[in-house]
Formats: sequence, structure tokens, C-alpha cells
Amino acid sequence: MNVNELETPSILIDLDIMSRNIAAMQERCDALGLAFRPHIKTHKIPAIARLQLAAGAAGIACQKVSEAEIFAADGFDDIQIPYNIIGEKKTARLMDLAIYNRISVSADSQTTVDGLSAAAKKAGVPLRVLVELESDQHRAGAPVARAVALAEAIAGDENLHFAGLLIYPSDASIRPTLLEAIALIDEKGIGIDVISGGGTGAALHAHEVPELTELRVGTYVFNDWTTVKRGWNTLENCAMTVMTTVVSRPTEDRAILDSGSKTLSGDSYEGEYGYIIEYPDARIYRLNEEHGYVDLSACANRPKVGEIVHVIPVHTCVVTNLHERLYGVRGGEIEVEWPVAARGKVW
Ligand SMILES: Cc1ncc(COP(=O)(O)O)c(C=O)c1O
Repeated sequence: MNVNELETPSILIDLDIMSRNIAAMQERCDALGLAFRPHIKTHKIPAIARLQLAAGAAGIACQKVSEAEIFAADGFDDIQIPYNIIGEKKTARLMDLAIYNRISVSADSQTTVDGLSAAAKKAGVPLRVLVELESDQHRAGAPVARAVALAEAIAGDENLHFAGLLIYPSDASIRPTLLEAIALIDEKGIGIDVISGGGTGAALHAHEVPELTELRVGTYVFNDWTTVKRGWNTLENCAMTVMTTVVSRPTEDRAILDSGSKTLSGDSYEGEYGYIIEYPDARIYRLNEEHGYVDLSACANRPKVGEIVHVIPVHTCVVTNLHERLYGVRGGEIEVEWPVAARGKVW
């Protein structure tokens, strides 16, 4: 089927660009001697993860247990969940996966560790636990002293296995913290199997953190307007576009797209909600649920009502999660239609 036969809005993936992105990140990790663990939260599609494994990835990362359940059911058996899994129901589901698969998970508090230990004990299967170190992002993650105490607690727990350290994003600035944590854990005679870093931007600096043994990267597979604006790659590396129709031209300077926040997501970068390939000087400056507002005042050429345009979204991972399917396109033809299998799997 020709891509122009699709209704809008539709989410297109340029297969040549995606393949190049997959190969380039794998080559980068291979050259640095790093195990590569693609984070599937960007595509949520087992068939794409299979392409990443075929290129040489060691396993996958999923952000939530429900995502991991989808991928485990599809045959993926080495899954890391870099997240604090809290609550008996969730830890029991995690252990159901850990009985049959190589599962690892992260923790940044004793409360998380205690819950994992109790679940592992109940299941009768040891669980691999990484300690998340705090990064410059100041999201989850323990400061060094707590991370070392957690490593000791995990290593001393007969239900758990201390699998190493995890950082997100693993920018070069985290190296002093990482070195301090490694030295203190070493002093206690505790072995560190894995030092897992991550992030599409951080991947560019992975050689500056030679202690890393593994990289988790997600967004690189499609890339988006944010990764371009941050200078991590260029428009030529953006595989995902939102094919959308101009449904109104209320004024000379304004166009309205049939893509709003339910299509493009509410994420913005410096006040913009995407980049229109055909009209580089246009600005998507506001979204309602089903309306995208475009400022055309800087454009020499302007679109007509009914014209189809292609938008590079601000944040590809959230766009994936909003849609039932993605269309893989090559040479203007739809080569594959993927259901987004782990769409909405956030629990
Ligand atoms: C814990 C963790 N690891 C890895 C990634 C992958 O980062 P990116 O999508 O920038 O490649 C993310 C992204 O949110 C993350 O939260």
C-alpha cells in the first residue's frame, strides 16, 4: 500500500533511517566493548526489539513490569527493569517473570530492597538487583553512601544477588561519583558484575566513562526534535514522522493540523510541539486535544487546507504510547504495520 493511502494522522517510521540508527548504536557499543541493552520504551514493539537483538544487543530494558510481561510473552528472556518495583502485587509479578527469565531490577532504597527480598523469598528464586546511583538529573537514585549501604544489604541477602550499579543518564559528569561508589564497594569485598549507563545523549560520551560495562539507550532508534535540538543527531536521523493534514487556515498566519496532544503528546521543547519538515520556518506553538496550532508568519510558502505535512515529534517515546500502530515505510510504500504491543503498559 502506498503511504498516501493512509488516513491522517498516522505515525510513520522510515525503515532505512531506523536500520541505520540501530546499526550505528550497536557499532558504537561494539567499538567501546560495551554490552548494548536497547530500552524498548521508545517503540514498545517486539519486532523492532528483535531487529535490535539481531544487530547484536545483549538483552533489553523495559521501564515497567507490564512492558516486561509483554516482551517476555514474546520470547525475550534477558530483561532489565531499571525501576523501583514497589508493592506486593508488582513484586509478585516480577518474580513470576524471574522464574523463567534472566531478570534484573534496580533499587535506590532499603524499602525497595526489602520488598524485592520478600518476593524473591516467597518465589524461591534469587533476584538480580542493581543499585541506582543518583545522577545530575536528580531523579531516582541513591547518593553514594546509601548506594554502598544498599550494595552491602543486597550482597548479604540470601534471596538477592547484587548485580552492580545503574545510572541514568550516564553523562561524563557522573564519573567522580561512580568512581567513589566503586571504590567503597570494592573495599567491602563486594563484586560488581555490571555498571549500566544509559541515555541517547550520554551514549555520545560513553568513552569518557570507561567503567561502564553496558549501555541502555532507547530514543536513538527513532530520534526526535528534542534529540536534534540538543545536538545529539540531525534531522536525517529522525525515523518517526507524524503524517498530518492541514484542516484549517483561519488566518494568513495560522494553520490548524489534525494532530493535537492526543497525537503529538503534550511534550514541548522551547515552546514548540514538533517540526514540520515541509515548512521549516513554521512553528507548532500550541496544542488542543485534536488541534495543532501552527504559526506561519515566518514562512515564505504556506500550506493550503487539505495539504498533508510531516511532523517530527518532540518526544518520540510518548507518541508511540499514544497510538495503536506504527507504519514502517520504505520508498513511499508501507512495508510493515506494527501493533504497539506494549502501548499503555505503565503499571
Ligand atoms: C532508566 C533509563 N534508562 C535508559 C533510558 C533511555 O534513555 P534515552 O531514551 O535517552 O535513550 C531511559 C529513558 O527515559 C531511562 O529512564
